[in-house]
Amino acid sequence: MAAAPWASHYGLKRTPFGKTIPAKDLYTRQAHSEAVARINFCVVESALGVITGDVGAGKTVSVRAAVDALDRTRHQIIYIANPAFGTRGLYVTIVRALGAEPRYLKAELMAQAADLLAAEAAERHRRVVLICDEAHLLAPAQLEELRLLTNGDMDSTSPFAGILIGQPTLNRQLRMGVFAALDQRIATRFTIKPMDIGESAAYLALMSPAFSGQWLVKLATLLTFRQHSRCALQPGFGSRSPSEAASDCIGPRSNAQ
Ligand SMILES: Nc1ncnc2c1ncn2[C@@H]1O[C@H](COP(=O)(O)OP(=O)(O)OP(=O)(O)O)[C@@H](O)[C@H]1O
Ligand SMILES: [Mg+2]
Repeated sequence: MAAAPWASHYGLKRTPFGKTIPAKDLYTRQAHSEAVARINFCVVESALGVITGDVGAGKTVSVRAAVDALDRTRHQIIYIANPAFGTRGLYVTIVRALGAEPRYLKAELMAQAADLLAAEAAERHRRVVLICDEAHLLAPAQLEELRLLTNGDMDSTSPFAGILIGQPTLNRQLRMGVFAALDQRIATRFTIKPMDIGESAAYLALMSPAFSGQWLVKLATLLTFRQHSRCALQPGFGSRSPSEAASDCIGPRSNAQ
């Protein structure tokens, strides 16, 4: 992946914090590695895990890194990018991902999803890894349906590994009394902290070994701030110093969009 003009201007080999970074090029900071390890634990144990963090903290890229390392012949990945499709949508997604045509009646559809999940392990010897991103958007009824799906073989095993990824409100939602049954099934939870300036500077230094010192810290400050605020880089950034561009970005959030 070629660097954007502003990144080349600062001697960087690639554009940092882009959306298309391949998993192998992600910076393996401690929080990232911990999140990946927790996801792997859930996959190995067929357990339910919850990864939360603020916007841009690196939740989705952690999932991407964990999934990238899985053997696709032995794992069936079902990734839900946006779960705002009701309880029927949850079952339909699972059934389609497992190669069947969803049945019309909800009761039949539920049984079909449960049967397909069980068959995937028993007949094809493949572990289903169900990843639900933006899980803070799951409605209470969907969380309850998810719990019911984890009851395999008279509740002795879970027919899939489930990873819920969401913003910090997800933790609060799961701790509400009505979700106690689901909450007690969660085997691991982790809150991923956003990159701090030191980590951003170390990440940038990897991309340009010759680029160091004060400029590095300034650019890291700018990019860390941009990452947290999701403000767009201003046109002309490449012709100004990072500190000048940073001062354009730093300000009320509404100005930074
Ligand atoms: N370890 C990392 N190495 C390199 N870049 C990273 C890393 N973690 C995060 N990023 C950068 O931050 C961006 C945002 O990360 P990500 O999409 O995973 O955030 P998120 O926590 O899922 O945010 P949201 O809540 O908005 O979905 C990525 O596109 C990537 O550019
Ligand atoms: Mg995300």
